[in-house]
Amino acid sequence: MKLIGELRALLGESGVLTDPADTSAYTKDWKHTVEGSAACVVRPRTAEEVAGVVRLASAAHVSVIPQGGNTGLAAGAIPDPSGTQIVLTLSRMNAIRKLDPVGMTVEVEAGCIVQAVQDAARAAGRILPVAFAAEGSAQIGGIVSTNAGGSNVLRYGMTRQLVLGLEVVRADGTILNGLRHLRKDNAGYDWKQLYIGSEGTLGIVTAVVLRLMPQPKFVVTSLLSVADPRAALDLLKQMQDGIGDVITAFELISPYSISIVEKHFGLKCPVAGGGWMVLLEASASVPGLREGVDEALAKVLESGIATDGTVAESETQAAQIWALRERITEAELKEGKSVKHDVSVPIPSVPEFLREAEEKLRASIPGAKINAFGHLGDGNIHFNVVVPPVTDAKVVNRLVHDIVALHEGSISAEHGIGSYRVDELERYRSESELVLMKQIKNALDPGGILNPGKVNAGSKI
Ligand code: MLT
Ligand code: ZN
Repeated sequence: MKLIGELRALLGESGVLTDPADTSAYTKDWKHTVEGSAACVVRPRTAEEVAGVVRLASAAHVSVIPQGGNTGLAAGAIPDPSGTQIVLTLSRMNAIRKLDPVGMTVEVEAGCIVQAVQDAARAAGRILPVAFAAEGSAQIGGIVSTNAGGSNVLRYGMTRQLVLGLEVVRADGTILNGLRHLRKDNAGYDWKQLYIGSEGTLGIVTAVVLRLMPQPKFVVTSLLSVADPRAALDLLKQMQDGIGDVITAFELISPYSISIVEKHFGLKCPVAGGGWMVLLEASASVPGLREGVDEALAKVLESGIATDGTVAESETQAAQIWALRERITEAELKEGKSVKHDVSVPIPSVPEFLREAEEKLRASIPGAKINAFGHLGDGNIHFNVVVPPVTDAKVVNRLVHDIVALHEGSISAEHGIGSYRVDELERYRSESELVLMKQIKNALDPGGILNPGKVNAGSKI
């Protein structure tokens, strides 16, 4: 293939992988449910090289699939099975260029591992306030391109809220440099918002300026049992009233989720009873945080909103509590075939959504096990369903998403559309919104070479 030779001339031998032994890690998703094939995997080191790849690919009418740490849960960075597409991994672009503890910003290349940036921020007495199970392998460009969520969104917002500046390679191979370290910038259209969360379908993020936050000196982590999701919602209301300004996480965990992390990882839930659990974390730098949380917890235990609970007395205990939450996805993988849902509904509707969806599932899919957990503080529930192998995932999606639609929710709160939810997006977003998405795609990538088939904004109007 002529293009492979041109890419080698641009990137050198080590910059272009073609041996399936080398490329296979880039052609299947984290869950290993979607497997494609690539003509090659390219490993540029600079934005100029990324731009060069895009120009060569565009001239040859070959698509480019940008990929970060490949930890996504919507198969949004996987090539199709044709074997003609190029996977572009950003992993060699991993420099932390500049960290400013006073302005509280950090400028990093797209291939930086999230945890490496978190560590650098901590060393400077600041935090990068994103928190999710895959942070040890997810990359900054990936979390920006997917507008990743996680467990701290309640306090700090989605990734979008943390992005101050962006460098992007456009579909025509030009480099758009907006790497500004500014808190306030109202000069013209805020074009970076188009690229954040567009899953590599509009451009390739090559570097980012992120906001940092002060590092809280005190953190309190607790696990509370509640009778059901309705009680968890009451607990959220009570806690928001009492200590809302210091809550950093409010996570709901179903009894089934606890049972599978205990079963597969030998973990032990420190709160007995086997019911629904809430993981509550609070953080602040002013003294008295622990006393304030204790006081609020005493009230909810006394009133019976929470039936039992524990507060971590050490970082080790806090990590043990977090492990119960963060290992759910891995445990689910060990349970067999699962159909994922990453939905959001208005926060007060969560208990009703859970009740209706569970009722529908139990009636329609015998043997289904519901692994419901997630970010109750954001109205975002991972309503994942472990099903018998013969079950058609699309049928399960339809049952759940129709209930989400009744509650005026979203079929993707934080994972994105990827290739998993393309048909669902067409079904649940309004005609006028879909037309706008397609107009944006056609304007920014008229040749349709960037990550085609994902999000599905690519199809012509
Ligand atoms: C999580 O919050 O742990 C992941 O986003 C969820 C998932 O497995 O659906
Ligand atoms: Zn999540």
